[in-house]
Amino acid sequence: MSKKKLAKTIVYGCQMNESDAERMNGELESIGYEMTDDMTAADIILLVTCCVRETAEDKVYGKIGEIKHLKENKPELILGVTGCMAQKEGEALIKRAPHIDFVLGTNKIHQLPEIVRSIEKRHEIERQNTAESINHKAGHFIDVEESETELPDGIPVDRKGTLSAWIPVMYGCNNFCTYCIVPYVRGRERSRLPENVVAEVEEAVRKGYKEVTLLGQNVNSYGKDHNKADFAELLEMTDRVPGIERIRYMTSHPKDLSDRVIAAVKNGTHICEHFHLPVQYGTDHMLKRMNRVYTVAQYKDLIRKIRSEIPDCSITTDLIVGFPGETDDDFESMLEFLKEIRYDAAYTFIYSKRSGTPAASYPDQVPEDLKKERLHKLMEVQNAISLEINERLNGTIQEVMAEGPSRNDSSVWTGRTRTGKIVLWGHEDERPGDMLNIRITKPQTWVLKGIRENA
Ligand code: SAH
Ligand code: SF4
Ligand code: F3S
Repeated sequence: MSKKKLAKTIVYGCQMNESDAERMNGELESIGYEMTDDMTAADIILLVTCCVRETAEDKVYGKIGEIKHLKENKPELILGVTGCMAQKEGEALIKRAPHIDFVLGTNKIHQLPEIVRSIEKRHEIERQNTAESINHKAGHFIDVEESETELPDGIPVDRKGTLSAWIPVMYGCNNFCTYCIVPYVRGRERSRLPENVVAEVEEAVRKGYKEVTLLGQNVNSYGKDHNKADFAELLEMTDRVPGIERIRYMTSHPKDLSDRVIAAVKNGTHICEHFHLPVQYGTDHMLKRMNRVYTVAQYKDLIRKIRSEIPDCSITTDLIVGFPGETDDDFESMLEFLKEIRYDAAYTFIYSKRSGTPAASYPDQVPEDLKKERLHKLMEVQNAISLEINERLNGTIQEVMAEGPSRNDSSVWTGRTRTGKIVLWGHEDERPGDMLNIRITKPQTWVLKGIRENA
């Protein structure tokens, strides 16, 4: 029997890429590949790339360079570049790195098996015809055409975890925030049909998954294209799937978070009390330049509403510092804004210029040193707030879903509260997926340490 062919997928960027990668892995398995962790053993390496910030792209170029050396010793190794950077760069990637065999855009996941098969066939012919006819250039395959009709329904999925499943509910983004490349590389908003989403959730639960995360760049506008259900209804439908324990979702654009979604979270049984509500900035001046379409006052009203309906919820955010035109006054007001809102946690980014987006050509770019200085100040203020909020949980009992051993110490296990906070405790006899009561004894900025309470 011939040896199994091995595939290695390397994923960069957000959960949407993780989810796409799980589908591409499923497709590779359907044509005879087995997944491996060892890049040097692989017959095919697939990069699922991100271009949201320059640092993300740099990492991918580094990896492409590394793979060039592997290919020198193993000419039949197939290298494919997929994901957002593939969509953005297209042919330019192959010009820069001719050892790439194919470049496949974000809406082309369906085509993966066919492309890989045709490259394999070419290798076969080349082997038979001896080395003279090898013409790598002729074999390059590029498809980054912007077709937006195909949704990832009916593709086999090889999920990474065993407890928590990513479920894409919509693709693309219509918002065109002025800093952001995503709408250019992911196309316009397209929602999956509710019955297909629910069927995927049901199947995940049948396979033992206890938690799902409904994914989209802006889940609150789910269904606006097909009008079969809106996001609040989709949450309610998911909540009714027998056997589901926890439902999460991301990301929510503040402009579209409706009262009905808040009510669905409040009244739902399994929908977790966590709102990830990226504000990006805390002054109207910057929000306007970023094209975020809400004002600070509207955002604060929304937070008030959420907290009055669901007092124990957690609220997290994304923030960008160093966006063009940011003044010292803006930045000071931003710190005040954070102190007023008091997020449980914030993911903070330094503005990165993305060519093709409006902000890249704004004249008033902020110097790199100042961006870094502001990022550190911002993180300091936010970390102090996160710690204070977590300290209030000292002594409380939290419902935690056990995930497994923590990275550094297998006797310490990790899991999450419904509000999404990471909890660590000394492992006894619990198994992954068990729902536990953990008494918090040592809250920290990013994690809560505790001990198991026997019910
Ligand atoms: N659709 C989601 C998030 C998409 S990207 C949303 O709207 O919230 C994730 C985060 O990356 C964004 O929330 C933003 O904070 C950050 N981001 C996007 N483009 C960026 C850029 N050019 N520079 C720095 N951060 C950026
Ligand atoms: Fe980017 Fe804005 Fe769309 Fe989020 S909502 S993906 S930040 S354009
Ligand atoms: Fe990156 Fe694409 Fe996600 S640019 S953040 S992988 S949608």
